[in-house]
Amino acid sequence: MANLEVTEAVPDVVGRAARTIATSVVISRRESFNAAHELRNPDLSEAENRRLYGKCANLHGHNYVLEVEVEGPIDPRTGYVFDLKRLSDVISRRIIEDVDHRNLNTDVPWLDGLIPTAENLALVFMERLRTELPEGLLRRVRVWETDKNWAEVREGA
Ligand code: NI
Repeated sequence: MANLEVTEAVPDVVGRAARTIATSVVISRRESFNAAHELRNPDLSEAENRRLYGKCANLHGHNYVLEVEVEGPIDPRTGYVFDLKRLSDVISRRIIEDVDHRNLNTDVPWLDGLIPTAENLALVFMERLRTELPEGLLRRVRVWETDKNWAEVREGA
């Protein structure tokens, strides 16, 4: 009887280890920053910008929230997909340090020529993170402009 229990236990342990390595898991880090912007297209007239953007054509600020998702197998040595402290450091160095307490229309060289909508921010943030993370890890970047509005870029979409 004792022998039977042991033999039954072995495949469970092996199966669990195999499952840990094969299954992808999503993890996420959230950071925040404050920044000012105005929505206007410099190629359009003042009247046209007013018509398109209304009050958003005036300089104003947001408390932005940036969510970054990565996905991959769990490293059996650490139990992590990716160290979230390391992800936080990458987000800070590549994005937050440049945009926090800044005017997004004028102060950030890598946003030059872009209308700083949440859509455009999400797209550029994705590009700036992708080059700093292991290939295939980055899955999704979401920028919350207010607690009601967000824009999201998905890898491969
Ligand atoms: Ni705005």
